[in-house]
Amino acid sequence: MTRRILVAGNWKMNGLQADGTALAADLAGRMKGAGAMKCDMLVCPPFPLISTIVNAVAGSGIAVGGQDCHAQEKGAFTGDTSAYMLKDIGCSYVIVGHSERRTYHAESDETVKAKAEAGLAAGLSAIVCIGETLEQRDAGQTLEVNRSQLHGSIPAGATPENTVIAYEPVWAIGTGRTATPEQAQEVHAMIRSELVGKLGDAAGNAMRVLYGGSMNAKNAAELLTQPDIDGGLIGGAALKADDFWTIAQSCP
Ligand code: PGA
Repeated sequence: MTRRILVAGNWKMNGLQADGTALAADLAGRMKGAGAMKCDMLVCPPFPLISTIVNAVAGSGIAVGGQDCHAQEKGAFTGDTSAYMLKDIGCSYVIVGHSERRTYHAESDETVKAKAEAGLAAGLSAIVCIGETLEQRDAGQTLEVNRSQLHGSIPAGATPENTVIAYEPVWAIGTGRTATPEQAQEVHAMIRSELVGKLGDAAGNAMRVLYGGSMNAKNAAELLTQPDIDGGLIGGAALKADDFWTIAQSCP
């Protein structure tokens, strides 16, 4: 089963228009000069930059996504953004359940699932994030925590085309402390087997499972060659064109 690698940049709350445009234009230029890529490329800018970035990457093959969405289509939800709005301005993906959302906005698995389902209903692909804290890892609960988040957060109607899972150990996010390829693969293999159990052989084996958490230009190749790691969700290293590009070039 060959799964096409997805290299996804999560810009988080970084960049003003000039920064985002320069980064996107730089990446788009490299894409246009590169010929056929071995991976799919995605950038997820902050909401106010999305339209600008959609224009900056137009025709390059780089997809654009949101970092979150509301579970409802529209209504009295001050400050929120719906999946339909993201779709309307040119997004094709939305990240849901990032640990920063789960932690700072108290998002439960149930909320994450509802957001993912809103994304699918709007015609977006959902990137559903799960991951254990350091305390949970130290307590030997890594597989159990991720299994439970996976089943609690995966949208109804998930297919390999509309859903991507991202395993992001919380202790590895933004810390410079990457999971070893073996630690990551162990969790990815569990996710794979749960997906096969839930969705059947063909769909479970075709769904992409990304790793995220301090992936960078140096460690990407080793992570991306693990059998069940199908790409990366990259924060810090996605803010530098050279680093993000090197990660994309590390795809097996
Ligand atoms: P990081 O962030 O690469 O900066 O660790 C990854 C993420 O939070 O998606």
